[in-house]
Amino acid sequence: MKVFDSAEEWQQIRAALPHSLSLGLVPTMGYLHEGHLSLVRAARRNNDRVAVSIYVNPTQFGPHEDLAQYPRDLDRDLALLEQENTDWVLFPSDADIYPPGFSTYVEPPEPSRLWCGQSRPGHFRGVCTVISILFNLVRPSRAYFGRKDAQQAAVIRRMTQDLRFPVEIVVCPTVREPDGLALSARNVYLSPGERRHALVLSQTLAAGVERFQAGERNARAILEQCVPLIEKTPGVRLDYLGIVDQNTFTPVETVQAGHYFIGAIYVGKTRLIDNRVFEG
Ligand code: PAJ
Repeated sequence: MKVFDSAEEWQQIRAALPHSLSLGLVPTMGYLHEGHLSLVRAARRNNDRVAVSIYVNPTQFGPHEDLAQYPRDLDRDLALLEQENTDWVLFPSDADIYPPGFSTYVEPPEPSRLWCGQSRPGHFRGVCTVISILFNLVRPSRAYFGRKDAQQAAVIRRMTQDLRFPVEIVVCPTVREPDGLALSARNVYLSPGERRHALVLSQTLAAGVERFQAGERNARAILEQCVPLIEKTPGVRLDYLGIVDQNTFTPVETVQAGHYFIGAIYVGKTRLIDNRVFEG
């Protein structure tokens, strides 16, 4: 496994890779867990070479968000990636990604408008910009994203299509703790009490899907049942719950299989997101 901390050195390796070999890219912000590693394994299964990027992208954090505190552990990340037979790790500096004079940003597409797009102004602009830069630097055949961040995956899929990046977007299932909590780097912020209360998000989304399975098709009825489950949980504040089309992330009135039940909550100061797919 080779680690690159400069884009220039990486470019030489990339240029030397024969066209006949496929390259899978897993973009991450590090502090890796089983969710990230599931993406690395999917990339490993379907590509000749696997590259993982570790970059805490400042442009996707708002001024009052957790950029400075975002957890980091490069040594541990590298040991985990080595075990997964990763070929290349890109660990660029801020100056590498955003050199002096950098001033071009990608206007994010329609699926970014609501939900996390509304709660975190500028977030998807930062995500689209950094992913575009990574796609151009790495030139992967395929790029791997988690369903855990379903809106992000929909935004990146739309952007890739609109800007004609020659990259296949692969979205992999959410990896959860045994009790249902979706794995996230931000789970380390939770105290033991908060960790217990945080469970209400995955439980509420699962309860909504069960309502659908029992025959309910009215989105408003499902939301009216689910919102109080979150609101009555101590220490938890609801950011949003929504039932959306899986591609546009616009709200639906009548729920169909394939639609997403999405949610975001604050547990103390920690913001967590999750989603479930409605399945028949
Ligand atoms: P990060 O939060 O590090 O996540 C990197 C990738 O891992 C994303 O595609 C995310 O959806 C996926 N992931 C996170 N938790 C997961 C889980 N429990 N199960 C499955 N996949 C999971 O998302 C980002 O970084 C950044 O926004 C990035 C795309 C790297 C751009 O900066």
